[in-house]
Parts: sequence; structure tokens; C-alpha cells
Amino acid sequence: MERPDGRHLTVLAHANPICAETGELLGAVNVLVDITERKRGEDALQKADRNKNEFLATLAHELRNPLAPIANALEVMKRAGDASPVAAESREIAERQLRHMVRLVDDLLDVGRITAGKITLDLQPVALGGLVHDAVEMVAPLVDQRGHVLTLALPDAPAVVSGDRARLLQVVSNLLNNAARYTPPGGRIHVELRILDSGGAEISVRDNGPGIPSHQLKDIFNIFVQGEHNSESGGLGLGLSLVQQLVTLHRGAVSVFSTGQPGEGSEFVVRFPLMRAPPSDADRAVLPPG
Ligand SMILES: Nc1ncnc2c1ncn2[C@@H]1O[C@H](COP(=O)(O)OP(=O)(O)OP(=O)(O)O)[C@@H](O)[C@H]1O
Ligand SMILES: [Mg+2]
Repeated sequence: MERPDGRHLTVLAHANPICAETGELLGAVNVLVDITERKRGEDALQKADRNKNEFLATLAHELRNPLAPIANALEVMKRAGDASPVAAESREIAERQLRHMVRLVDDLLDVGRITAGKITLDLQPVALGGLVHDAVEMVAPLVDQRGHVLTLALPDAPAVVSGDRARLLQVVSNLLNNAARYTPPGGRIHVELRILDSGGAEISVRDNGPGIPSHQLKDIFNIFVQGEHNSESGGLGLGLSLVQQLVTLHRGAVSVFSTGQPGEGSEFVVRFPLMRAPPSDADRAVLPPG
């Protein structure tokens, strides 16, 4: 609203009628609360958040550029043959660290793209069974290294969704990576694909690790949120936020179950709508011709 002196204020208006006992309207009390300062604060916070997102996107982009030539240089060194075992070992360390850096920067880039609404899904029919299988294969080295036992349960019937295979693989492998990373060595990880009566399918990743304390459950999918002891885990706290955003883009949903009791672990479940199965021969036989 505009004040007589020309100042503009943001106000919250509450209008309440005053009625006689008979119900007759006598007048009204109109209360205007000046929230100009609060609104200014909110706008400043939103602007700071936008600036931060833009900064991170630019930073990720600039960091990504030199990584490709570094990878090429390491490949050239490998092909040229290592001068000594020490040189070979050093090159392998550089390669490992580079892979880690590429993953961090790619996650940052993805978060930036999703926040800016710039991600496009390359949709095609994706069989979830094969997808889960491939994701398990991707994390197998980490699972082995940590001495976990991973079990996999797939349904007999195919479960096909309309999705971007690479993005769905990212979803499942992020969950598996977390399970393998946060479960103490020698743990159990169970991955299951279930077809639901509702016409959907869900993928569950369960572990018997430390679980997630209840006070953290509600914001575990938020960007940069990490467990208290995980700041040295080598991640940025982007994995679950990417999972949630990618699943939502696929019209799915993700949920987490955990008691937070050590050893009772956590279960992450992602659910997707299934594509309608093409009519089987038996169905076709009863359809009218044409
Ligand atoms: N299976 C799990 N068991 C116990 N804690 C988990 C599990 N999965 C996730 N968490 C907790 O949730 C936090 C957020 O996970 P998220 O995947 O988003 O980030 P991150 O793993 O720390 O880093 P990034 O995935 O970016 O490398 C983790 O730091 C960890 O504390
Ligand atoms: Mg993670």
C-alpha cells in the first residue's frame, strides 16, 4: 500500500466483521500489519540463494573444463608406458582422484541444471530389472572393497517405465553407493524390484548400517545435507537431492525408512509409474477386429 507521504509498504491485511447479536453487520475491524522489513529480508535471502546457485553452476562449469585435458594427459602417459613402478603408482593415484573430482563436479553441474530447470530427459522404454542389474554392477567394486554381501531380488514379470536410462541408473547407483559407503564393512545390502498392484513398480535398497536419526529424516533429501559424521566421506551431500529431483522428473517418488537404531539400517524406496504393457496375444484375441 501507498502511504500519504508516498512510501510503499507491504502489509498483511486482516478484516473482521463486527456483528450485532441479531447478526446485523455493524462495521468491521481492519488490521494492517506492516511486514515491509520482513519482505525485504525474504527477498534478500532469495536473491542470495539465487546468486549462490549461479555461482556454484559457474564454478562447476569452470572446474569441469580442465578435467578433460588432464584425463587425456594421464591416458597418454599410460600408453607411453610408465618409466617405473613408482611412476605407474603415481599415475594411478592421479587417475583415481581425477575420477572422484569428475563425479563431484558432475553432481554439482546436475544440481545446477535441475535447479535452473535446464535438464532434459531422453525418454525411452526402460526395463527396470536390467537397470537394477547394471547399477549393482557399477557399485560392485565398492561393495567388494568393503566386504559387504549384496543380494538382489527381481520379479519374474518385466517392469518397464518411460524414462531416461542414464538418469535412472544415476538414481539407483547413488542409493547403492550410499548403502555401501555408510554401512560398516561386512554389512548386508538387499536390493529388490517389486511390481505393485497399483500399476507402478518400486526399487528398494536396504542396508543394515547405522541408519538415519529421526531428526535428520525430514531434510535428508535437501541439497548439501550430510550426516554428522560424514563431512569427511568425500561427498558434497548432493546424492540424495539428485535422487529426489530425478525421480520427481520421472513422475515418481522416493521415501526413506529408518529407525535410526545402529544395525537396523535404512531403506530407500523409489517408486515409478509403469508403462502400460502392450496387449498380449490372449488379450488381442478378444479385441474386436480393427
Ligand atoms: N544408506 C545410508 N545409511 C546411513 N546414512 C545414510 C545412507 N544414505 C544416506 N545417508 C546419510 O545421508 C546423507 C546425505 O546423503 P547424500 O547421498 O545426499 O550425500 P553424501 O553421500 O554425503 O554425498 P554425495 O552423495 O554427494 O557424494 C549422508 O551424508 C549420510 O549421512
Ligand atoms: Mg551419497
